[in-house]
Parts: sequence; structure tokens; C-alpha cells
Amino acid sequence: MSLRHIPAAATAGALMLTLALGTAWAASPDAPAFTPPAADAIPSGPFGEAVRLGQDIFLNPQKFAGRYVGNSMTCASCHLDAGRRAGSAPLWAAYVLYPAYRSKNGHVNTLAERLQGCFVYSMNGRMPPTDSKTIVALESYMYWMAKGAPTGVKLAGQGFPRLAEPQHTPDYVRGQKVYTARCALCHGAQGTGRRDATARTAFPALWGDDSYNWGAGMHSIKTAAAFIHANMPLSQGGTLSEQQAWDVAYFINAHERPQDPRFAGNLAATTKAHHGGKYDLYGQTVNGVTLGARSTPSTSTLPDKAESQVGK
Ligand code: HEC
Ligand code: HEC
Repeated sequence: MSLRHIPAAATAGALMLTLALGTAWAASPDAPAFTPPAADAIPSGPFGEAVRLGQDIFLNPQKFAGRYVGNSMTCASCHLDAGRRAGSAPLWAAYVLYPAYRSKNGHVNTLAERLQGCFVYSMNGRMPPTDSKTIVALESYMYWMAKGAPTGVKLAGQGFPRLAEPQHTPDYVRGQKVYTARCALCHGAQGTGRRDATARTAFPALWGDDSYNWGAGMHSIKTAAAFIHANMPLSQGGTLSEQQAWDVAYFINAHERPQDPRFAGNLAATTKAHHGGKYDLYGQTVNGVTLGARSTPSTSTLPDKAESQVGK
């Protein structure tokens, strides 16, 4: 069976259906549960407009914040169900946790700075200014979605549910087998994803130039394994064993992707400064390929797009 032959409208419909189903979320006993407001409950008026723009950016950043985006993923490629889905780093749970200290950059980050990082790394793009319409709209969307939630508390469903250490060291060949059997149908044999008739991404790229870059959270095998175990294959979260999730996360992240925007002109120095540990393959050699050595430059280090493209 090939999804390539299914009309775009049918694919989109099937997607909406699979998104509506999803995995039951097993809450840790002391984490409070929270349900965000219904998607059709966005108020009217100027604040509602900002919320709606935030939702539009989240679902289609190429159209609504194109200047800051360097691949064809959307925020919802990794934060499923428009950022609502428990276990895929939902926005309502994130909103109440900022400002927060992050070891990634060694200081307390405002929510705006956290959002800027998503553009630079996950979207392989560039940083929207803190006071830009883009950041204000995304913050509005998050604030609205967290309406009534307790602040400063880890809610049930926050982040990706972390897995225990793997029983066996994650393995490329085992991961490749999982990929071929369970993932390639949607994400493509070459990991490049698939687009629908409108050229928007129906199935996002897992590696290559159109995917997240080497600085993104998802490049960590640990983070990817957690996301995958909870959420993939789409609508069948929880059906891979934890070992399969580790193995396929290793396989995906053992492929080239755009350069880390913090690249200092030297692979060894960048590896030392920003990478390392057994779940990070940047700078390591897998199957004869030294990862990060031949990456295309990240968008944030290229000249900005013309003013005429702003807002497209
Ligand atoms: C390639 C996948 C990917 C894409 C695309 C992506 N993110 Fe994320 N996002 C992550 C990962 C991974 C984390 C870290 C989650 C964790 O470690 O629990 C994260 C974390 C976040 C957080 C903090 C969550 C928390 O609970 O602290 C916010 C907010 C966020 N992303 C917003 C966005 C926005 C807005 C966009 C689009 C501009 C976006 N993300 C695009 C993968 C992605
Ligand atoms: C039925 C189609 C389908 C299958 C099968 C599938 N995925 Fe996905 N995957 C998606 C879609 C669609 C998204 C984006 C989420 C959305 O649009 O709702 C996604 C998102 C992702 C992401 C985050 C975005 C990115 O591109 O990095 C990862 C990682 C991922 N899938 C890995 C996997 C793995 C590993 C498997 C196999 C175990 C798998 N997927 C199987 C459809 C699928």
C-alpha cells in the first residue's frame, strides 16, 4: 500500500481522524490533571485574534511566520493535535513552567526565549524578536490554552514521558528494521517525509535538509525515543516496545541533518561545547559517516530573506 496514491483530501481527513483518537495518558500519581479549553472556544475581539494567529502559526508557520522558518515542518509535527496532546509536550503544560532555568544555555529563560529556540533549532530557522507579532501570538495561544491551570506545577502529560534506560544499547540495524516495518510508509524510505497536493507537509522529514537541525531537542536519542514511544506510529502510540523506540530513535538520529546553528567552524570544538553523552551522535562516526561533518549550514547562519517575504 502506498499513501502517495491517496488523494490529499482523503489523507488530511484520515489524519484528523487519527489525531482525534490517540493514546490514553497514564498520569504520574501526584501530577494534577488538566483539560485545555475546547478548540472552538477562542474568544472574539483583539485577544482572540492574537490567539487565533498563534494557532495559525503553530499549524502553518511557513504561511504565517515564514521569515523565521527554514524547513517544512510545523510546530504540530512534534506537538501533536495543535499542541494539545498530552505526552507530546503540550502547550498548556509548558505555559505554566516558564520562566525556567535551562542547562542548554545556562540561564533562566523566559517563555519568549524558549519559543525563539524552537524556531532556531526545531524549525531550522531564525529567531523572531521577543516583541514580534509571531512571539506575542504564540504566547497568547499558550496562555489561552492554559486557562485555569495551576502555575509552576508539572501537569500530567507535560513534556514527553521519559523512558527507563534501554535494556540493550540502541542499535542501528535493529532500528532500521523497525523503521522499514513501521515508519517508512508515512515518512518515506529516505526519511524525507511526504507532502500533500498543497505542498504542505503531510508527513514530516525525520532526517536530511528538511528536518530539525543538530541543535534541536529531537536530535537526542533519549528525547526522540520518548516522543516516538508515546506517539508513533501516528495514532498507535505505545505499540512499540521501549527497546524498539530506542533503536528506531538511534537509527533516525544516525543520519545527517542541517548543521547546529552554534557550529563554531570546527566539528570537534562544537561537539565538545554542545554535545556528548551516549545518546547524542553529533560528531560520532556511525557506519563510516561522521555525523555533523557534512551538514548543510543552518538557516540562522544564512542571509535573511527579503522583506517582501515577511508574513508569507
Ligand atoms: C522536531 C520536533 C519539534 C518541532 C518541529 C517543534 N518542537 Fe517544540 N519541542 C520539541 C522538543 C523535543 C521539546 C522538548 C520537550 C522535552 O524535552 O520534554 C520541545 C519543547 C517545546 C516547548 C516547551 C515545552 C515544555 O513543556 O517545556 C515549547 C513551548 C515548544 N516546544 C514550542 C514549539 C513551537 C512554538 C514550535 C514551532 C515554532 C515548536 N515547538 C516546534 C520538539 C519540537
Ligand atoms: C500513519 C503515518 C505515520 C506513521 C506510520 C509514522 N508516523 Fe511519525 N509522524 C506522522 C505525522 C503525520 C507526524 C506529524 C504529526 C502530525 O502532523 O500530527 C509524525 C511525526 C513524527 C516525528 C516528529 C516530527 C519529525 O519529523 O521529526 C517523529 C520523530 C516521528 N514521527 C517518528 C516516527 C517513527 C519512528 C515511526 C515508526 C515507528 C513513525 N513516525 C511512524 C505520521 C506517521
